[in-house]
Amino acid sequence: MFKKLIFEMGSNGRSGCSLPKIDVPEVNISQLIPEKFQRKKAARLPQVSEFDVVRHFINLSTLNHHVDKGFYPLGSCTMKYNPKINEETQGLKGFSALHPHQPDATVQGALQLLYELAEYLCQVSGLAAVTLQPSAGAHGELTGLMMIKAYHEAQGGNRKIVLIPDSAHGTNPASVTIAGLQAVQIKSNAQGLVDLEDLKAHLNNETAALMLTNPNTLGIFETQVAEISRLVHKAGALLYMDGANLNALLGIVRPGDLGFDVVHFNLHKTFSTPHGGGGPGAGPVGVSERIRSFLPSPCVKKEKHGFTRTCEFSESIGKVSAFYGNFSILVRAYTYIRMLGATGLRQVSEGALINANYLLALLRDFYDLPYTRTPMHEFVLSGDRQKKFGVKTLDIAKRLLDYGVHAPTVYFPLIVSEALMIEPTETESKETLEQFADLLIKIAQEAEQTPELLKEAPVTTPVSRLNEALAARNLNVRYLFSD
Ligand SMILES: Cc1ncc(COP(=O)(O)O)c(C=O)c1O
Repeated sequence: MFKKLIFEMGSNGRSGCSLPKIDVPEVNISQLIPEKFQRKKAARLPQVSEFDVVRHFINLSTLNHHVDKGFYPLGSCTMKYNPKINEETQGLKGFSALHPHQPDATVQGALQLLYELAEYLCQVSGLAAVTLQPSAGAHGELTGLMMIKAYHEAQGGNRKIVLIPDSAHGTNPASVTIAGLQAVQIKSNAQGLVDLEDLKAHLNNETAALMLTNPNTLGIFETQVAEISRLVHKAGALLYMDGANLNALLGIVRPGDLGFDVVHFNLHKTFSTPHGGGGPGAGPVGVSERIRSFLPSPCVKKEKHGFTRTCEFSESIGKVSAFYGNFSILVRAYTYIRMLGATGLRQVSEGALINANYLLALLRDFYDLPYTRTPMHEFVLSGDRQKKFGVKTLDIAKRLLDYGVHAPTVYFPLIVSEALMIEPTETESKETLEQFADLLIKIAQEAEQTPELLKEAPVTTPVSRLNEALAARNLNVRYLFSD
């Protein structure tokens, strides 16, 4: 019954809309549009009732997995619950109906929100100043690296090398390259931490920065961070923190206190704004006092008579975004912070840590765990044990879809073979975690006893197993009429 496309439904002449009576003089369209651009045949639009249209889109929305539909343990992505109050506030007319070119005097509330959000992020991170301009984590990385480059140039240096641990997210080296710098890999040690000897061997007067993710992508806190900070700064380089994993640190540790000079935040992860499928996002960047003057201009300034967008930085790298960032995402993150307050934010991270560690305790006997240090908000299992039965991590991930759960992140970080990276987030209940663990345990048994089930999965989803590369690169989403 629901298998039909909307083009195959309805019948000639059926309509789903009623337009008000025209109250302006009617014009002949052929006089407005040049002949060559006019349709020869009427557009073949679906002719369906309003109810059919509603059902069509509701049905479509349930074909895809999303966080409001089911568990979404996508490591490094923090797919947590997005409180619906965020949608209410961002939809308020005073926010959603603004134009970025409106004079400052007419958008005081919006400017106050931006000013206060930057202040809150400074408090959370222990940094001196924040720009809200970047629109994603990777955009924040690029912004941070542009500032690092400008800082070294202002010192009269030409440092071009950025050191990046081999566990880092792929956006880190990509951002380095786009910023005109050169990425060099640093090894992780057997505990999954930065190999200090390798770091020391690479630090020299060409090093611009070390980009560190903390907790790193294994979910492990870089316990040597104080020593790393000392070594990096002694070499005249700067310390960058990829803050995509800040969900683990809120109210517990502040990156500024750990010696980081530049940190990007993924508001769309840590501060609960809906994301996935490439957007939307916001990747503000916080800096220490020594980098402040390089921040993108403008920012919001608090003056006696109110808030203005006049704040300029003396050595600014310029604008990195049209206007002032992804405003509606910033409103959502602000709402989240205001709803929770300082105590609530700390509880977020404590909950994320407890949930991840509980889930790991349920699973560790059934899958390999290459790095055994107590993790923070996420952990990385390996499917190596299951591989002996001819089953790959990809098959395990596909089988989870049959059970109505989104798969964890797979094959990342690259230093774990057959990686399964799991981040449950603090917003899931104990029961959900237990049900998920039961599923993964069941799948581990299936891998041993009925591996073909996993090889064929998924069989219950709207489309079965797709070619991973072609599905994204060779999209065919056009409806062709048969006549
Ligand atoms: C550790 C880490 N760094 C950086 C990024 C990039 O963030 P974004 O996807 O917002 O560009 C991600 C995103 O998955 C990440 O997990």
